[in-house]
Amino acid sequence: MCGGKANITGTQAFISPGYMNTILLNNLYPSTIYFYQVGNNEHNWSSIYKFINRSSSTDDEVNLIAYADMGVSPIQSGAKATIDRVLARFLSNNVTAILHIGDVSYARGIGTLWDAFMSQNEPTTSRASYMVGIGNHEYDHVTGGNKDPSQAPGDG
Ligand SMILES: [Fe+2]
Repeated sequence: MCGGKANITGTQAFISPGYMNTILLNNLYPSTIYFYQVGNNEHNWSSIYKFINRSSSTDDEVNLIAYADMGVSPIQSGAKATIDRVLARFLSNNVTAILHIGDVSYARGIGTLWDAFMSQNEPTTSRASYMVGIGNHEYDHVTGGNKDPSQAPGDG
């Protein structure tokens, strides 16, 4: 991710993401709907989103949705079908969290594809915990090789 297009600024390469903020929510009430909105007056505000905190019972089932290798629609033809199925499952079940276990966007340093990927996934990731893992397309190689998507120089 530090090689190739990630080192060039432009619409088909790296785009500064601007500010990235992290907020830790402490002492949430169980089984409670929380509404939230992100943004600021200078760059506008998002829609108002909501999520439901888990119940306090440790006997409640945990429902996870897990997938990998999604990509961005329409470049990866299966991406739209995957996110549609994830959203349908999410809306019909009490989903605790979504696990995206690697090869998340295939953006390979192209900022506009990352933006498209995040917009594509927003209907689900704005409503539930979302955790990503590192696949070979996110791994930051220090040497290259034929199958190194980061295009790091050298053999390896
Ligand atoms: Fe993959």
